[in-house]
Amino acid sequence: MTFDRNLKIAPSILSADFANFGAEIEAVEAEGADWIHVDVMDGHFVPNLTFGPPLVKAIRKHIKTVMDVHLMISPVDPYIDAFADAGADILTAHVEAGPHIHRTLQAIQGAGMKAGVALNPGTPVSAIEAVLDMVDLVCIMTVNPGFGGQKFIHSQIEKVRNLRAMIGDRPVHIEIDGGITPETAPLMRAVGADVLVAGSAVFGGGSVSDPAPYGKNIRAIRTACDVMV
Ligand code: DX5
Ligand code: ZN
Repeated sequence: MTFDRNLKIAPSILSADFANFGAEIEAVEAEGADWIHVDVMDGHFVPNLTFGPPLVKAIRKHIKTVMDVHLMISPVDPYIDAFADAGADILTAHVEAGPHIHRTLQAIQGAGMKAGVALNPGTPVSAIEAVLDMVDLVCIMTVNPGFGGQKFIHSQIEKVRNLRAMIGDRPVHIEIDGGITPETAPLMRAVGADVLVAGSAVFGGGSVSDPAPYGKNIRAIRTACDVMV
């Protein structure tokens, strides 16, 4: 993985058909996805449950691009090796998930993955200032994590603008997760985001037997960002 600030669309499989992940991933990549975003939830850190390392490992062979794993779990550290073994390219932990984010990020990189840190909407960017030199990605949540299809929280725009300034020349991706649509995507691109996660806005209206809407949805987000002023 080489670093750049080009726009990357990362469909979240949280909005895909859970009985058909392999085919869904292949369809959405064929339709133009740049990364595949994989949401792991534990029913404790967030009020919803999804899946764990065995499923992540099973879908790895269907991903040709980048497997971007977003952990909404607490604790994180006991599971890092399992996600490395599952083939995660990027492993993102929440700063709110425990008292030792520095140790967690070290462990993620030590296990051979890129390390991401995610912030809930209520957490200020100052919470990660001291670890910016050791992360590959910062994920700003623009909904409260746990579910797809929620409404974008506009107060996060200013937060991303500040984060972009704080990152400076560091090769750190800025990822936005939650409520991304052709309407909200350009707002985040304009303040410095390069990875846009989108679940419902990509998978809505399509299926593995009719994947063309996935491509149309991805292009709508991309085009909206291209025409922004
Ligand atoms: C929310 C997840 C998101 C979610 C986004 O907790 O982390 O990745 O799938 O879904 P949309 O794009 O529908 O808001
Ligand atoms: Zn996510």
